[in-house]
Amino acid sequence: MQDTANKNTFTLTNNQTEETYTYNILEGTRGPSVLDIRTFFADTGLFTYDPGFTATAACTSTITFIDGKKGELRYRGIAIEDLAEHHSYLETCFLLLNKRLPSKEELNDFDLEIRHRAYLHRGLQKLFDAFPDDAHPMATLSAAVTALASFYDEHIEIQNEEAYLEMAHRIISKIPTIAAFAYRQSLGIPFIEPDIDLSFTKNFLTMMRAYPGGKMHLCANGHEEIKDVEVRALDTIFTLHADHEQNASTTVVRGVASTGAHPYVAISSGIAALWGRAHGGANESVIAQLEYIGSVDKVEAFIEKAKDPNDDFRLMGFGHRVYKNFDPRAKILKELQDELREELNLDTELMAIARKIEEIALSDEYFVSRNLYPNIDFYTGIILTALQIPKTMFTPIFVIGRTVGWITQWIEFKKDETSKIARPRQLYTGK
Ligand code: ACO
Repeated sequence: MQDTANKNTFTLTNNQTEETYTYNILEGTRGPSVLDIRTFFADTGLFTYDPGFTATAACTSTITFIDGKKGELRYRGIAIEDLAEHHSYLETCFLLLNKRLPSKEELNDFDLEIRHRAYLHRGLQKLFDAFPDDAHPMATLSAAVTALASFYDEHIEIQNEEAYLEMAHRIISKIPTIAAFAYRQSLGIPFIEPDIDLSFTKNFLTMMRAYPGGKMHLCANGHEEIKDVEVRALDTIFTLHADHEQNASTTVVRGVASTGAHPYVAISSGIAALWGRAHGGANESVIAQLEYIGSVDKVEAFIEKAKDPNDDFRLMGFGHRVYKNFDPRAKILKELQDELREELNLDTELMAIARKIEEIALSDEYFVSRNLYPNIDFYTGIILTALQIPKTMFTPIFVIGRTVGWITQWIEFKKDETSKIARPRQLYTGK
């Protein structure tokens, strides 16, 4: 029982027993305060019921702050708009891991280390052969990251800061190689090894698109060099995906961390959770849905379908659990999409369908009253299509960006002395 005279408390009355219980209200630096109910079951004999954790804070964190009503997103206190405009993805990775942006020299060292760690053990490369030619790259990616754990056993017991960072740098660096290999495996074509002369993002595009031994690239409409504008757009997409506080896949990563499993196994579980259409898989579904709609004149019928309470059809790329205003990442990507319109030939039928959906949904009472705005996946789907990246690689690209967030959250969990194994309760309604 807490001091009832204290204003930072919350008193609850059980009307069945007329007993009252008082709990502390915890104040963060920003965002809603949190009721500390850690002793609730011991005090009252009751569990709390909150499917989908819509009102439950499961940890404290200093990594990412979101104000869903205002449409605000910050990594380590820095606004996402600032990071997207003035900093690279690698600077963002350094920021998440080290709680501050790097100096020029620190960035050079970090960049060099990430380039050098991008190679995969030859034993691991054999794993890719086990997958069928048309395997989805997310399946291969998740399996390969689990396999990676067996090459770096030492990361299961990390004792100091240096070892935490080595473990984190290793996975950030190798994920693009694994994703590119998974893609090439799905096409049945030989792998392109990482090139330490190339930046993080250009290296990934090259490993994905280059012909073996040459500078030509596999593109839908011929063989082209990778353009700077493509590298810049993809780097921005990586930055916007870098972290997003306690989303579904991060919650999975923390849950696996809580059991003491290897950090790369936790990342592999995060990859599996991200794959779903309600989460990171939405970017692939957005384009599949636009292709299915097929032409601008059919858009209105699909909007009506999405609004029908008796139809489970949903507009992919719309809505968000936390943002009840425009997703700030979507705003940045909408601007990027407009900038890229001329340079990347965005004026296709698919883009016209997307624009029509966006226009109707933003003014339709059903979407407006439910705060259903286009989310990040709506625009990444469109931009990645313009970059001639195949649909099956959209979610692996989300994985590349998010790996730093997952691993930073894993480290935070491990360092937090209040962390406990994740073990929710239930309301039993069976026999
Ligand atoms: N199309 C049509 N209606 C929708 C949509 C949509 N995309 N999203 C939500 N709604 C409706 C629901 O039917 C519900 O209506 P009701 O109140 O009349 O029953 C209302 O809006 C609230 O929906 P919930 O499912 O309760 O919202 P929740 O916060 O649980 O779900 C989610 C959020 C999963 C993102 C949901 O909006 C959705 O399925 N969107 C489509 C998939 C998608 O784009 N996912 C990517 C999210 S971003 C990310 O993970 C990176």
